[in-house]
Amino acid sequence: MLTWDDTPATNTPAAPAAKMPVPPMTHAASPVVAGATGLEDVQMGASRIRVDDKKIINCHADLNQLVPFKYKWAWEKYLDACNNHWMPQEINMSADIAMWQDPQGLTEDERTIIKRSLGFFSTADSLVANNLVLAVYRLITNPECRQYILRQAFEEAIHTHAYQYCIESLGLDEAEVFNMYREIPSIHDKAAWALPYTQSLGDPAFQTGTPEADQRLLRDMIAFYVVFEGIFFYVGFVQLLSFGRRNKMVGVSEQIQYIMRDEAMHMNFGIDVINQIKIENPHLWTPAFQEEALKMIREATDLEIRYAHDTMPRGVLGLNASMFNEYMKFIANRRCAQIGLKPLYPGAENPFPWMSEVLDLKKEKNFFETRVTEYQTGGALSWD
Ligand SMILES: [Fe+2]
Ligand SMILES: [Fe+2]
Repeated sequence: MLTWDDTPATNTPAAPAAKMPVPPMTHAASPVVAGATGLEDVQMGASRIRVDDKKIINCHADLNQLVPFKYKWAWEKYLDACNNHWMPQEINMSADIAMWQDPQGLTEDERTIIKRSLGFFSTADSLVANNLVLAVYRLITNPECRQYILRQAFEEAIHTHAYQYCIESLGLDEAEVFNMYREIPSIHDKAAWALPYTQSLGDPAFQTGTPEADQRLLRDMIAFYVVFEGIFFYVGFVQLLSFGRRNKMVGVSEQIQYIMRDEAMHMNFGIDVINQIKIENPHLWTPAFQEEALKMIREATDLEIRYAHDTMPRGVLGLNASMFNEYMKFIANRRCAQIGLKPLYPGAENPFPWMSEVLDLKKEKNFFETRVTEYQTGGALSWD
């Protein structure tokens, strides 16, 4: 069964070697051998590209030639992502609107969860997209990986669109929701944790090509693909899907199902890239770097547990905040394993086994049984 947090990364991790705290930007010393961008002059008569010329970072081969493929996993994820295309307006929100407007429809605690989740996600997906487009894309020097990143960037736009669509459908105060990451501490803290990792890479003068700079890119990849998309989304996913499981806010929950399927693939792509960088550059994966990665995951787990307590001070929807202590530790262990690190919380178990089934959408009806969730590009949905 395909489980959305278990999908194996295509590559296996590699070995150790250096050091680094989240440092301020410096462009000093060591000769930088930056990779190509794809915007270099076209070299008439230059020798043809061979697979062996390709490298995931610091590659000097022409980046405008998609084939021959070296990283087939990246191309396959691009094709899978295109096959999973969906749009937010295809999901019927009328039952949600009626429930939201009915004073008896939801408790105050349930309304708080909906608003806080939309508050976090509505800005989080834009932050992920900005990291991708303004920091990561330029530094990943491989056309098939870039092809997937371009697709991912569009999916992040769809996700932001989906949250806006939910906010608009329910008639929420847009200013309140979109400003939560500046006004609600537990939401702010997650975005604030991630920002320094993308800020240094976003400097147009930043180049990879030294061990320190390459580690900085690797650190950003861990912050965004492993932590942001692999840890920070998970309390919100469980909470919003729990509404649907109780036949409440089924439209919002269905939006989240599609988003979660996309996010699982984003995370697995990022993990494949991280592991490929490790394979090609084993000197980056030093014991000190591994310790730092573990520290990042531990900090993120603590923040996500705090977010659970903040959004859910009392038990609701069969959930309570302490269940998330265990769940986030379970998720953190999985993330560690996926990038070849030892588990941070040995023995942590999954209190929400149903979450692993949600992503098995390929042939299953979704759990709200509103319709078959698998469809191919261009497959229109019809609502009665
Ligand atoms: Fe997203
Ligand atoms: Fe994503």
